[in-house]
Amino acid sequence: MEADTEHLRQRFEQAGQGHVFAAWPELAERARRRLARQLAAVDLGLLAPMRDAIAALSSPPPRKLAPAPAFALADEKFPYLLSDAARAVAPAGERALARGEVAVILVAGGQGTRLGFDGPKGCFPILPLSGMTLFEVFARKLRRAGRDYGRIPPLYVMVGNHNEQATTAFFEQHGFFGLNPDDVRFFAQSELPGLDDSGKLVMAGPDALWTAPDGHGGVVSALHQKGMLADMRARGVRYASYIQVDNPQIPVADPAFLGLHISEGAEVSLKVVRKTDPAEKVGIFCLDDGVPCIVEYTEFTPEDSRRSDENGRLVWWQGSIAVHVFGIEFLQRLADTGTQLPLHAARKKAGEAEVWKFERFVFDTIPLAARVVCLEVPREEQFLPLKNPDGPFGPEGVRQALQRYWKKALRLARPALPEPPAIEVDPLLCENARELAAALEDRKLDATGPLRLEP
Ligand code: UD1
Repeated sequence: MEADTEHLRQRFEQAGQGHVFAAWPELAERARRRLARQLAAVDLGLLAPMRDAIAALSSPPPRKLAPAPAFALADEKFPYLLSDAARAVAPAGERALARGEVAVILVAGGQGTRLGFDGPKGCFPILPLSGMTLFEVFARKLRRAGRDYGRIPPLYVMVGNHNEQATTAFFEQHGFFGLNPDDVRFFAQSELPGLDDSGKLVMAGPDALWTAPDGHGGVVSALHQKGMLADMRARGVRYASYIQVDNPQIPVADPAFLGLHISEGAEVSLKVVRKTDPAEKVGIFCLDDGVPCIVEYTEFTPEDSRRSDENGRLVWWQGSIAVHVFGIEFLQRLADTGTQLPLHAARKKAGEAEVWKFERFVFDTIPLAARVVCLEVPREEQFLPLKNPDGPFGPEGVRQALQRYWKKALRLARPALPEPPAIEVDPLLCENARELAAALEDRKLDATGPLRLEP
């Protein structure tokens, strides 16, 4: 064994992980090199925080929780109008967009295990009539921002090792959906090893460690390590709009949300929807000992989740939809100070066995920010995520919810028109009901058949 490898073996043995070399004597030279390269990249300093993350599941940290303040996007009485607060701040967001100070980060590195779709989730055909894919939906929303503000925000797509090639190939095959390829960047997140129940690193085979993507929180270090943060700064970007690939109704760069972030001087902002079902599995935005944070739904007892105030509204109502604005200076500060987000442990199937996998969550940036603002958005307008093979968050459920939303929007825009049997609105035309009437102008519509509204 060469000196380098001997040193590597000693490091793993001292950490109680010598078993990763068990098959070494039988391995061919190439397999040895591959394994050594993989092991050399493992940060053994993470073993202790990994074990702590497993322990934290059975004894969560003590909390002193209180509800947190939030602004509302929509008028309480007329949910198809902006609230006064949103109207006041939107111009600041529009100015930032017009100056080219906004980038969009689309996280698409998940494994899409629950959906069971063979391919990156962004390639899933989601719109009800055209079958437009999620990636194309977002690209068209970006082009629309370009039409409205004169600049198309650059797009940064976070992928995983497992879907990087398929994702870039999909964009290339489709001519980047009309975006300038120079304004689309793909960057791969890191992976983390897993542990078995006795705290040993899990092997995927005799010559390979088992690893899994490091969670959407991996975006923080990946942006820095892959040069994306530097790329944004070079373009004069000051704000990053962060969205998930699974939600076709989320605006890519919402002027009111950006404007709120800017005018409130926030470092991190988030969107929430009002939770109506106490059992809904979303993280809750709240204050822990006065510090803003998101607490996983698993940390609330069923009784706690059901608690309501004197008006009968849930106390813990702020369901996070995992959508943010980040200040670029804030992300740079995390990079400069080497700040790592905490690890969270979860069970995951690895072949036949179940293992512990570890992820970082992007919302753990919230307690690190000097100022955080929260915007409540209407659920039916902005939160229709594709998660499962069936049910309300399955393809059919999402398509039906899209149709319900746009039929209602059409009713508001054209009260005299009969309801069409089916409807689809091109994201290049408009993004929500507030914009529909103006987008249609005095166009003649025939609602006797399926209605596709395009620019
Ligand atoms: C997440 C949130 C939940 C929120 C919901 C909204 C967490 C722990 N949960 O749930 O509070 O209500 O979204 O839709 O944050 N991704 C990566 N790399 C990874 C893992 C995920 O890029 O390693 C991306 C996925 O591609 C996807 C997004 O992150 O775009 C969400 O991932 P997913 O695991 O589906 O989140 P949920 O568990 O549904």
